[in-house]
Amino acid sequence: MESSHVTIDPAILYFGTPVALISTVDVEGRPNLAPISSVFWLGHRAVLGVAARSQTGLNLAATRECVINLPDAALAGAVDRLALTTGRNPVSERKAQVGYRHVGDKFAHAGLTPLPSDTVEPFRVAECPVNMEGAVTRIHELESDDPERAGGIVLAEVAVSRVHVHPELRMPGTENRVDPTRWRPLMMSFQRYFTIGPELHPSRLATIREEWYRPRSAAAEIPPR
Ligand SMILES: Cc1cc2nc3c(=O)[nH]c(=O)nc-3n(C[C@H](O)[C@H](O)[C@H](O)COP(=O)(O)O)c2cc1C
Repeated sequence: MESSHVTIDPAILYFGTPVALISTVDVEGRPNLAPISSVFWLGHRAVLGVAARSQTGLNLAATRECVINLPDAALAGAVDRLALTTGRNPVSERKAQVGYRHVGDKFAHAGLTPLPSDTVEPFRVAECPVNMEGAVTRIHELESDDPERAGGIVLAEVAVSRVHVHPELRMPGTENRVDPTRWRPLMMSFQRYFTIGPELHPSRLATIREEWYRPRSAAAEIPPR
């Protein structure tokens, strides 16, 4: 069969992922907040992809705690105010070239409100409908086999210790479920902002009860639906 594709060599491969605001503190307890979009969850862990030399990368390695705050579509403006800013001072030459500047108080700069967390030092973001507190359990170097890129990016594995959601996201009649029809995540695709569309198709995977995914010891304590 003839290929129906063309070959391209994109400089970035950011086809679309949710935006997260990562809240951290440095060794002196100074807060930082930065947008990333390299994040996924599997099991009860989050995996974050961050530039090793960003303030967030340094803080994750040094203090091993964070809050993963998920902005919804309505917060695109606040997230964009954090774009091209860094908690690092001075700003690296490479970042300065494309317009990055140092911002000391990212919460004030974005117009976002810090809230204390329950299990970690870094603040939560009040306006974000989802806040996940967590501890960094491991840091893995990405691209360490590529001499041109080695040392640039790390993957932080985060054990989620507490999840807070705005009440309207909770599925009616449930304690612990999020209603995906009410959740409008802010997404990034090729550096631009989007959100998700309406539900498309009945889901066979969704016939599995969410409680099935809990470890057996914890699930045993949960009454059947
Ligand atoms: C929408 C958006 C998505 C981004 N995604 C990432 C990412 O996945 N990983 C990363 O290291 N930086 C990402 N950045 C760039 C960081 O925000 C940037 O490096 C910033 O300077 C980090 O701030 P800090 O130095 O205070 O930690 C993203 C920026 C924006 C606006």
